[in-house]
Formats: sequence, C-alpha cells, structure tokens
Amino acid sequence: QPHCDPYSWGDLFPSCHPLLEHHHSPINFDPHMPRSDSLGPLHLEGFDVTQPGHWTLTNDGHSVLLQVGSGMAVSGGGLLDEYHTIQLHFHWGGPATNGSEHTVDGRRYPMEMHIVSVKSVHPNMSAALEDPTGLAVLGFFIDVVYADNVHFGHISQMLSSVAYKGQTAKVKPFPLMGLLPRHNMSQYYRYYGSLTTPPCSQAVVWTLYQVPIYISWSQLAQFTSQIFATEEDAEQVTPLQNNFRHIHPTFGRSVTASRDAILPKGAAGRPIRAAVLLLPITFLGSFGL
Ligand SMILES: *[C@@H]1O[C@H](CO)[C@@H](O)[C@H](O)[C@H]1NC(C)=O
Ligand SMILES: *[C@@H]1O[C@H](CO)[C@@H](O)[C@H](O)[C@H]1NC(C)=O
Ligand SMILES: *[C@@H]1O[C@H](CO)[C@@H](O)[C@H](O)[C@H]1NC(C)=O
Ligand SMILES: [Zn+2]
Repeated sequence: QPHCDPYSWGDLFPSCHPLLEHHHSPINFDPHMPRSDSLGPLHLEGFDVTQPGHWTLTNDGHSVLLQVGSGMAVSGGGLLDEYHTIQLHFHWGGPATNGSEHTVDGRRYPMEMHIVSVKSVHPNMSAALEDPTGLAVLGFFIDVVYADNVHFGHISQMLSSVAYKGQTAKVKPFPLMGLLPRHNMSQYYRYYGSLTTPPCSQAVVWTLYQVPIYISWSQLAQFTSQIFATEEDAEQVTPLQNNFRHIHPTFGRSVTASRDAILPKGAAGRPIRAAVLLLPITFLGSFGL
C-alpha cells in the first residue's frame, strides 16, 4: 500500500522526495504575500454551459474523480497558454478532522477540490508532466454550512454508486460554474508546484481561490464516512480518509496574490522583492518538515 503514507512515496517514486530547491505541493499560504497586479481573473471557457455526452465519476482508491470529457478550457489570469480541462477530484479529512491540501495561515479547510487542465500543446499526459507549466490546477477550498449546496448535489448524490475502489458511475453533465464560488473569483493565490500524488511531477501552475465553496455537513459526511479505499469484496474494509499530502516548504518560490485578492491590512502592495528578502527565514524554518 505505497500510497497510504505520503511520507513514504519517495521510496517508490524518487520524484516525490521533497529535496532542497524542489518545488512541491501543497504549501501553506502566508497571508503576508506580495500582490501581482498582472494577475486578473481567469477565463473559464465552457464552464457555464451543459456539455454534451456523459461524464464519469470514479473511485480510484485515492480520491473520487469526475472525468469531464472535452469542451472546457482555462486561460488568462497570468497563464501563458490555453489549458484543456480533463477532470476534477477531491481531498478530504475524516469525520472530525479537516482535509484540504493547502492551508491558509495554518488553517486547514474541511475539503479541497482540484480542477485539472492540460496545456493544449501537449498530445498526452506524459508530455505535459515533463513541462514545468504543463498542467493548470484550479484549487477551491470547501467549507461547511447547514444548507445543502444543490449544485454540489450533482456529485454528492452519486457518491453511493462509487463507494468502493474501482467503481464508476455515469454522471449527466451540468454547468461546472454552478459548483464554483459565485463571488470574487478574481481573488486567488498563484504559485508553481507539483502534483500532490505520485509521481509528484513539478509540472503545475497552481491557482487557489480565496472564496471557498460551501457545502452542508451531510454532504461533507458523504465523503468522510461513505467512501472506501478498498474494493467491495475486500475482507477488511478501509474508509478513504485524510487523502491529502503534507505541507511543503516554498524554498524561496514566489507565491503571489492576485490583483483583487484580500490580504491583511499592511500587506497589500508589498513589493515582490519582499519574498526574496524573506528567503533565509523561510529556508531555515523549513528544516524538520
Ligand atoms: C476546520 O474547519 C472548520 C470549519 O471550517 C474550522 O472552523 C476549523 O478552524 C478548521 N480547523 C483547523 C485545524 O484548521
Ligand atoms: C506523448 O507525446 C510525446 C510528444 O509528442 C511522444 O514523444 C510520446 O511518445 C507520447 N507518449 C505516449 C505514451 O503516447
Ligand atoms: C468580495 O470582495 C469584496 C471586496 O473586494 C468584499 O467586500 C466582499 O466581502 C467579498 N465577498 C466575499 C463573498 O468574499
Ligand atoms: Zn488533487
């Protein structure tokens, strides 16, 4: 079970070793980050329409992922190319613990959703993984309220069909925009990092939106207690929980906030140079992680 413990992935996948100067994900967002005025809103093409055909929801034993076919693409917001959207998936904790991958000022949200898109020039995934900006992943924190999120219901209502590893279910396409926060999508964080699952390729332009998606406690519980990492006929049933990778040091990478992002008072407009000056502190503080 090499995937069970993210700290041991490096034994089987050398590319997962978080060596010095390597750019791994996830990271913690220190809200005292510089702002980049060139980072405006992203263009999400095809997200507001119902795509033809059907989508496929899968439990792969590590997450639940929704393959979305073709028809959607991501560009703008500092991305230098167009990226074709292929799938989205989730990371979560347990019944009493949070499980977002990225953290904000040390806070971990209950869940995180990743929308994965591949740079359109690449003919296949292996080519994209060789390119430091081969993938664009849009990350959304998921927080919990009392009311159900009807759009999220398109996915959560199907979860019982993919409770066990290897199970798949057809999902009727719906406008993906309905899943996303309705407000302030021009507020996000940007950095360059890696896949958070093996082979941990350093090939990802990350965009983490500041405004979370809100779902209900019962929708959250469907992930934390009704999805299994084992097959239906397994002798011992293991719940799929805490499928997030540990936080990695930034190693002096530039982590910036978008033009419209909300930062603590005093941090706004700090020159990019501040990130470089902080490097020795970040660097020393990162040992022992
Ligand atoms: C977990 O999420 C809840 C709900 O958003 C939040 O109140 C709590 O502070 C989070 N816990 C941690 C340790 O970040
Ligand atoms: C992926 O695309 C690259 C670049 O065109 C090509 O060299 C490689 O053989 C392809 N790999 C697979 C598995 O199709
Ligand atoms: C959106 O941003 C504005 C400021 O630009 C802020 O006043 C408002 O509270 C934000 N809305 C949400 C839902 O975060
Ligand atoms: Zn992910």
